[in-house]
Amino acid sequence: MARDRGFHPVRIIRIVRESADTRTFVLGTPPAAPSPLTAASSRTASSLVAPPSPLAAPSPRTDSSPFADSSPFADSSPLADSSLAAPSPFTYRAGQYLTFRVCGTLRSYSMSSSPETDGELMVTVKRTPGGHVSNWMHDHLAAGDLVEVTAPAGVFCLRESSAPLIAFCGGSGITPIMSLVKSALATTSRRVRVLAANRDAESVIFGPALQELAGRYPGRLDVRHHLDAREGLVTDDRVRAFLGGDRDADFYICGPAPFMDLIERTLLAAGADPGQIFIERFETGASEPAAPRQDSPEQDSPPKDSPPKDSAQQAGTVTIVLAGKRHTLPRRDGETVLECARRAGLSTPFSCEAGNCATCIAQITEGGAVMRVNDALDDDEVADGWVLTCQGEPVSQHLTVVFED
Ligand SMILES: Cc1cc2nc3c(=O)[nH]c(=O)nc-3n(C[C@H](O)[C@H](O)[C@H](O)COP(=O)(O)OP(=O)(O)OC[C@H]3O[C@@H](n4cnc5c(N)ncnc54)[C@H](O)[C@@H]3O)c2cc1C
Ligand code: FES
Repeated sequence: MARDRGFHPVRIIRIVRESADTRTFVLGTPPAAPSPLTAASSRTASSLVAPPSPLAAPSPRTDSSPFADSSPFADSSPLADSSLAAPSPFTYRAGQYLTFRVCGTLRSYSMSSSPETDGELMVTVKRTPGGHVSNWMHDHLAAGDLVEVTAPAGVFCLRESSAPLIAFCGGSGITPIMSLVKSALATTSRRVRVLAANRDAESVIFGPALQELAGRYPGRLDVRHHLDAREGLVTDDRVRAFLGGDRDADFYICGPAPFMDLIERTLLAAGADPGQIFIERFETGASEPAAPRQDSPEQDSPPKDSPPKDSAQQAGTVTIVLAGKRHTLPRRDGETVLECARRAGLSTPFSCEAGNCATCIAQITEGGAVMRVNDALDDDEVADGWVLTCQGEPVSQHLTVVFED
């Protein structure tokens, strides 16, 4: 199966302030051919891969929320009016993300829009304290700019089901949840419940839009806002109370790692089916090699003649085909393909290094590898030989992976 791993220019149509530290970027297709007018009035993707320009203006605030006066929350965007929408540059599924190439690096951001209810495609970015890209996007991108993104990817999506959908999100974890909630409400008759945790009322993202959705789908959407400033951190008691008797729901979780661990643990202890728990991890850089997970699908069985995995004898090679050039390297025990590439000074693509974003994927054309963690590729992609190179360890004597140009 061909997988589009290239970068595509998209235009920032407008930027919406969701909270003091969160912005929604509405993305549209760039004009087919640059006219003298657009060339003069917009910065291009190539100017955006350079360090921040002193000419770059702070993002203008373009929203005017009908909810701002009546809501306890900070200003926020209303639901999109699809009749005014700029056409989406991509088809995508609710819950997927785009990977941006800015400032010479790669970061993934989930769609907060729904393909079924929003004509426009939107991603929502929260400032990470000390973070390179999120702060740069807030401070330097403006309407009219071109940025480069991959095609939508990700498996944190709705499945065919009539079970209730229960979502737990913390901070910017609301982004893919918002997309899923809008799609589930619009395309199914499922009940939807959301526990959204935030530091305080000012940090709540999409408060008014969720309020409006609850009004639009009476009796089907229940949103509880948990504010740490008022109630302390979310506890297992709180999770159990929110869960009630809904053990058979599909559970979607996205937020800070300790929050997600608490929710998952509590759901499992309460008898939820692990197959009905879906988790999107935003975190980057697992510094310790993670133990292979039970549910981590094996890329390929080791060939019969390959040495046992824990054998001291790990002779063999890893061949990396990058930009059409073959690099054959000695294989080292316990090393991922990305680590092997680095050892050889090769600049293969990566971003999260945690198995979440698929920025690092390559296709296996010889041998097999096992992924320590795979939260980004679906079963078909794995069956087609795609591997997350930041997670894939060779399990055959010779492994060849090809990075798409
Ligand atoms: C699939 C996926 C979807 C995502 N969706 C969203 C989304 O919808 N919205 C969203 O806001 N985010 C999302 N993210 C997270 C996003 O990709 C970025 O990880 C996030 O914005 C932080 O990037 P950054 O460049 O600003 O921070 P980084 O520069 O990567 O820094 C991250 C943290 O590391 C610290 N740090 C950086 N360098 C150093 C150093 N040298 N020493 C010590 N500490 C350091 C920083 O202080 C910061 O706390 C998603 C991630 C994934 C994988
Ligand atoms: S770099 Fe994100 S999955 Fe490998």
